[in-house]
Amino acid sequence: MCGIIGYTGPRKAAPILIEGLKRLEYRGYDSAGIGVGCDGALTICKKVGKIKDLREAVPDDLDGCYGIGHTRWATHGGVTDVNAHPHTDTTGNLAIAHNGIIENYLILKARLEAEGITFRTETDSEVIAHLIAQHYEGDLEAAVRKALPLLKGTYGIVCLHKGNPQLIIGARSGSPLVVGVGEDEMFLASDVTAVLAHTKQVVYLEDGEVVVLTEKDFHITDLNERKISKTIDEISWELEEIEKGDFKHYMVKEIYEQPEAIERACRGRLDPTQATARLGGLNLSPAQLLDVERIRIIAAGTSYYAGLVGSYLIEQLARIPCQAELASEVRYRNPIVERNTLHFAVSQSGETADTLYAMRELQRKGSCVLGICNVVGSTIARESNGGVYIHSGPEIAVASTKAFSSQVTAFYLFCLLMARKRHMSYETGEWFLQELTVIPEAVKAVLKTEPVIKKLAKKYAGYKDFLFLGRGINYPVALEGALKLKEIAYIHAEGYSAAEIKHGPIALINEETPSMFLVPDDRLREKVISNMKEVKARRGKLIAVVGEGDDEIREIADDVIEVPRVHTLFSPFVMVVPLQLFAYHCAVLLGRDVDQPRNLAKSVTVE
Ligand code: M6R
Repeated sequence: MCGIIGYTGPRKAAPILIEGLKRLEYRGYDSAGIGVGCDGALTICKKVGKIKDLREAVPDDLDGCYGIGHTRWATHGGVTDVNAHPHTDTTGNLAIAHNGIIENYLILKARLEAEGITFRTETDSEVIAHLIAQHYEGDLEAAVRKALPLLKGTYGIVCLHKGNPQLIIGARSGSPLVVGVGEDEMFLASDVTAVLAHTKQVVYLEDGEVVVLTEKDFHITDLNERKISKTIDEISWELEEIEKGDFKHYMVKEIYEQPEAIERACRGRLDPTQATARLGGLNLSPAQLLDVERIRIIAAGTSYYAGLVGSYLIEQLARIPCQAELASEVRYRNPIVERNTLHFAVSQSGETADTLYAMRELQRKGSCVLGICNVVGSTIARESNGGVYIHSGPEIAVASTKAFSSQVTAFYLFCLLMARKRHMSYETGEWFLQELTVIPEAVKAVLKTEPVIKKLAKKYAGYKDFLFLGRGINYPVALEGALKLKEIAYIHAEGYSAAEIKHGPIALINEETPSMFLVPDDRLREKVISNMKEVKARRGKLIAVVGEGDDEIREIADDVIEVPRVHTLFSPFVMVVPLQLFAYHCAVLLGRDVDQPRNLAKSVTVE
């Protein structure tokens, strides 16, 4: 969602801030702004629209070597230039940018208005600027410290004052902030992509911490002014990884990165001698792993669907009861936590509020929650009791693709580990490893079908409604296919178990509603074929994703996409890719903003 960048150093701040905001575009935003301090003056420029619109609004001769920037994803108040951040106090001496939501802003606003302060925006964030200004007596850090306890809700704040040259203050409670440590310059950002072009040395802030940046140094304290010493981490991502290279969009680049992403998730974790997997980060002893009687997976969106795939696999092969649930639902239903239940919180960004808060609730009740995350140092990764990094590399497109495949891979590894600890034989373990090892090549082969899928997209992009249908372990893949089409092509799509259509959705079928069936060669195949015939009898168009050379389905369906034949339990890896490419090409043909679809944010940090 919103993004933050701050800079202090010897260079001109404005271009650095704008470049940082450009890197944060992927998070989703509707307006952006910067505030730059120079020679006792503070200049604010903010604009609705894209970063290029902001760039045009910023004077070329804007000097000043310290400043803050923000991309806003509107929550409180419409999408207007005025509501964009940074926000200033009434004197215009101080500016703040804020991520998160100030829940008690109406009370604070009423109090400040009663004291004579006139508000200029409809945002919750503006109260922060006025509160800090009220406590400002020449020392910005002291003023921030006095204002913070008055705020209820979540925040990542960055702030400067024209009376304190080269000083940037940041504070975090529930919304991420990271310090970028450069050579005689310092950065503050909501995520590392904004600073990667300048430094790989970073320090992650925790909730309740305040950071003070000067050109050459930084120090971090808690709210009681106790000094906190931190280690500087090195970001493993390379700058090229957050660039599009020769691809037209990040989404298609990331779809093509899946074979490599699956390999990376497996790297160093396969143990052929024991026919099992090694997952050192779980922080659980062999005895604790043996004691696990139930598994619950919590997540949102695509990560939830990856978790659903994991739940099918774990129940089937490790024979441990396993349930995947929407984190947003788990949190508020007073979840029952039983002994020997292992929880997983799955999140690409590691910052999704629904997943994070549900994880905290489960931990409060005494559960062990393991994280499956991509972003190193993210809140879920740090607050979980252990876990598995999927090492996909940065995922920039709002629509998640490679993270899905990598999350699924993490579950395959965990499943193998748990199954081998129980009843799975050495030989079956060997078979499992063999099947998993060929998956990257199989996915590469699916990518070669892109021309076929592009043609199909041309044929079907004009339809307004779609059904995605799969069964068993491919039911979550159908859900994921429908989500992809909705979020980037804005085509209404529903994912269902193929068996369910006769319980309602079949009423939607006519020549205007195509269905995409996933038909691996498994024991449910005949039943799925019957479902396809039911659709066909009602003049519904049929597209089927099938194993290579499946002539029987070719006879029934209007169009087929062939994928390599892999064991059904491994078929989600090959079934999902055509659905991603189909959504991508429909979106391109319809002229959608593929990487930053409307209304969406990459990392959803509010509930
Ligand atoms: O960062 P997370 O994996 O926790 O994000 C969860 C969802 O917000 C995310 O998967 C969302 O559904 C994507 N837009 C799907 O493409």
